[in-house]
Amino acid sequence: MTAEPGTTIVSGGSSGIGRAVVEGLQGRGRSVAILDIHPPPDDLLANGQVLFLECDTTDPAAVHEAVAHVANQVGRIDGLATCAGIGGASARQGIGSSQWDRVKAIVNVNLLGSYWLLESCAVAMAGGGGGSIVLVGSVLSRKGMAGMSAYSAAKGGIEGLTRSAAVELADRGIRVNCVLPGPILTPMSRTGFEADGLSVEQWIERMARSVPLSRVGMPEDVAAVVLFLLDEASGYMTGASLMVDGGANVG
Ligand SMILES: NC(=O)c1ccc[n+]([C@@H]2O[C@H](COP(=O)([O-])OP(=O)(O)OC[C@H]3O[C@@H](n4cnc5c(N)ncnc54)[C@H](O)[C@@H]3O)[C@@H](O)[C@H]2O)c1
Repeated sequence: MTAEPGTTIVSGGSSGIGRAVVEGLQGRGRSVAILDIHPPPDDLLANGQVLFLECDTTDPAAVHEAVAHVANQVGRIDGLATCAGIGGASARQGIGSSQWDRVKAIVNVNLLGSYWLLESCAVAMAGGGGGSIVLVGSVLSRKGMAGMSAYSAAKGGIEGLTRSAAVELADRGIRVNCVLPGPILTPMSRTGFEADGLSVEQWIERMARSVPLSRVGMPEDVAAVVLFLLDEASGYMTGASLMVDGGANVG
């Protein structure tokens, strides 16, 4: 007998890729809990199927408390998508710019926040028969870019975390995979290209030229792959990194 679907936690679900994941889960009639430092737009909470908890995912105690609250409130947790993240600053803020607090924040949010969530959710999932965890990395764990060293280091950590956690958690019925997005038009990417003095049109044109599929990605492009990895359709996949980059990494 297949268990009734439980709840999926989406960190960073208030904006960009995370918001698209939440909308996709809503469309499938699934129960969702958003953990974010910013509240989601009202329409995302309108149908009562989405719970919002204000939570800074860089704080392990706060993450643990939020996951326990979700479990108490809605029961079984069987999905996690870690979409909370901050950008890697602009090309003018690279190695030698002594922006240590920014470097620490980038690693904290993009890597350690994902670790705390994976740990808390894995414990909850193991007690409930398993689940699926999807971490959001970046193609910048595979491809270098000036000004993005701290971000690339954090995203490289996401791939390592995915592989070892997949091995460690397999016998508890928990799958762990990650997606590596390329250039996606979201509030985060907007902050980056605006800091570099580019308009949205200029950025879209520049990215389209660097991507074999000749267009910039949208949050829904990434969400579709996250939803596949959360779903039992990907039930024989664990430890995988899937690029969602329009072919940027190979072209
Ligand atoms: N946009 C891109 O081009 C791109 C490319 C590759 C990877 N990514 C990754 O995709 C993920 C989502 O990015 P996005 O583009 O949708 O960005 P976004 O800025 O639209 O959304 C990020 C969300 O994370 C939340 N957040 C930030 N810090 C947090 C914290 N400490 N605790 C809880 N929530 C926090 C924000 O409030 C926001 O809702 C990130 O991990 C990012 O690194 C994005």
